Amino acid sequence: MSRLPNLAENRRPHGQPATDGQHHLSVVAPDDHAETILARLLAVRRHSEALAAPLSPEDQCVQSMADASPTKWHLAHTSWFFESFVLQPHVAGYRPFSEAYGFLFNSYYEAMGPRHARPQRGLLTRPSAAEITAYRRHVDDALVAAFRGDPDHAAAVLAPLVELGWQHEQQHQELLLTDILHAFHGNPLQPAYDGPGAPRPRGAGEGADDADYDGGLVSVGHDGQGFAFDNEGPRHQVFLRPYRLARGLVTNREWLEFMAAGGYRDPAHWLADGWARVVQEQWQAPLYWRHDAAGWSQLTLAGRVPLDLDAPVTQLSFFEAEAFARWRGKRLPTEAEWEHAALLAPLPQMFGEAWQWTASAYAPYPGFRALPGALGEYNGKFMSGQMVLKGSSCVTPRGHARASYRNFFYPHQRWQFAGLRLADEAPLRAAARVADGGADPDFLAAVLDGLSRPQKTLEPKYFYDDEGGRLFDRICDLAEYYPPRVEAALLRRLCPDLDQVMTPDSVLVELGSGASIKTRLLLDRLTKVTSYIPVDINAGQLQAVAKALAADYPALEIAPLCGDMTAVEELPPAYAGRPKLGFFPGSTIGNFQPTQAVALLERIRRLVGPGGRLLIGIDLVKPLDQLLPAYDDAEGVTAAFNRNLLTRINRELKGDFAVDSFAHEARWNAADSRIEMHLVSRRPQHVAIAGRVFSFARGESIHTENSHKFTVGGFAALAAKAGWTMTHDWVSEAPAFAVIGLRG
Ligand code: AVI
Repeated sequence: MSRLPNLAENRRPHGQPATDGQHHLSVVAPDDHAETILARLLAVRRHSEALAAPLSPEDQCVQSMADASPTKWHLAHTSWFFESFVLQPHVAGYRPFSEAYGFLFNSYYEAMGPRHARPQRGLLTRPSAAEITAYRRHVDDALVAAFRGDPDHAAAVLAPLVELGWQHEQQHQELLLTDILHAFHGNPLQPAYDGPGAPRPRGAGEGADDADYDGGLVSVGHDGQGFAFDNEGPRHQVFLRPYRLARGLVTNREWLEFMAAGGYRDPAHWLADGWARVVQEQWQAPLYWRHDAAGWSQLTLAGRVPLDLDAPVTQLSFFEAEAFARWRGKRLPTEAEWEHAALLAPLPQMFGEAWQWTASAYAPYPGFRALPGALGEYNGKFMSGQMVLKGSSCVTPRGHARASYRNFFYPHQRWQFAGLRLADEAPLRAAARVADGGADPDFLAAVLDGLSRPQKTLEPKYFYDDEGGRLFDRICDLAEYYPPRVEAALLRRLCPDLDQVMTPDSVLVELGSGASIKTRLLLDRLTKVTSYIPVDINAGQLQAVAKALAADYPALEIAPLCGDMTAVEELPPAYAGRPKLGFFPGSTIGNFQPTQAVALLERIRRLVGPGGRLLIGIDLVKPLDQLLPAYDDAEGVTAAFNRNLLTRINRELKGDFAVDSFAHEARWNAADSRIEMHLVSRRPQHVAIAGRVFSFARGESIHTENSHKFTVGGFAALAAKAGWTMTHDWVSEAPAFAVIGLRG
């Protein structure tokens, strides 16, 4: 389902709902049966009532401050939501429970008309709790009847709104608890909402080392999988400097240290607005703390209990969290830092204990657009003056949170289960760790850079590890992959012509010589070649091939040159002044972008010197029914070759690509006259490489290779830009391939 607005009413001014991270429980897939949706809806509805059950009718009516609402109002407002956004507009013949309720229980939707003043919700002794219960039943019955009466309409129209409705209600479930705790805080009896098992943060963090992240250009925001509120998108990229996060939340014990060090007395720790609050409201400790003869205690949903020193500190304002971080010489994380870390692997206490204040102002993500109409009112209009909190708390309904969730409150608000996790700057570490493991730093840099681009890209030169080389050899034997066969036939045919124009005692210089198989076709037929310089990156293969050739061609002088063929500056001085024939077969030139191809051709021209020659293979434009199978063979060898790049990244760069979740695809790009190979993500997913997370939408691809297809004239023009003149063109029958003779 696509993103819908975040509607938790009471969250405006106050903030947003809670979610419990990793679980996407309440996702309505398009094919969900109406009964499944109903079951989920009714489970959420019953849970609200269960949360209210321990409370007396008097408890349920009280409003302790304008920011908090009575339990009864939460129960009614969440029903009003279904009535206003699902039943009235989309269910024919629905009769509202009471005409008055639209006014009483509209939270802040201007488009839905006037409403009862927020700070006076506690005056609603009528309707009674029993009437609100009847209201809830009326709405539930109407939803059930609508779903059962017309399941198709329910699935197509009602289901997304109903899901929004239950997500909204889950937000109010959290507020119901935080608001009643605030009410009990104001009661000298300090009542308990529930027994000792009532939710409160208890979990301990990991005292061990902090977690370091390299950051870089990362994606944040909801990835489109499952439900999200509209403020979680659009997904977009942000740049993160290397950073560090604590593996746990700041504890009550640490907070006592802050207090003992004069934390609430020294303005130097505080932002100006925060210090003004400290003075004006006489803050001396977190909201529900109290000190008496027995020591420090804290009001919890289980009543007043001795302070648990190891539990996370909660009921903090942003100002307090920020002051603490500053006092400790650290800072709060940004929301993007927090989210990126959560995607990599959630740290202890990210979810289910206390919301974590971030240093990020609650603002629209780039490209955010509120929905039209009343449903668009919730998120967009509150994007001013509030700060983002990430994670979820002990009173967040289970299954309601995720990494992209953006809760928000004003910086002075203190009554939520909100705490903090410290952040700091960090040295660039992850890349170094990978390099320590023996990885090629250039490969790492190229992969991180390529996957950070809007069109994710990997360089084809990294295909050729040992397994990649083996797979490419198999490609060359495939019936569908015509170039090696056709080119070999052309080479056999052209040698007599070429031999005629060559100068005696020539040096054959082969770029990317590999197994030197095609070379033998030339050596067997060209009478004027006396020396051979194979250039290749693979030292082992170079030596082995040189040895084999020396045995088979005893008169030939062989001088292997190990290096990247695109970077060779010069040949050994012993060959200066000798006539040279460059050899660049296989249409490898097609794997370069035109500008790179010109640069490479120019380099080769300098290598072979003035008057030197080049024999180069190029694949020609041809019908797609010949071209596409050459890059997507029936046996799947090319697919394996393409995917092997991901396996290589996993092995050498500590990546965690689920290789099979990427489909091989060969595409014809007519505008650029090239076959493109892509690896297409079969599902939304996150991939970690060397401490960085890269996110993929379903259908998003990594572009792994271009294989340009030429016309003879087009290639001659390209070569001319590099200073070459075409002397020969040997063109095959279909499937069309050409070997071109150039002179420098
Ligand atoms: C090496 N290069 C010329 C091959 C080509 O046709 O572009 C690489 C290849 N990719 C898939 N199949 C073959």
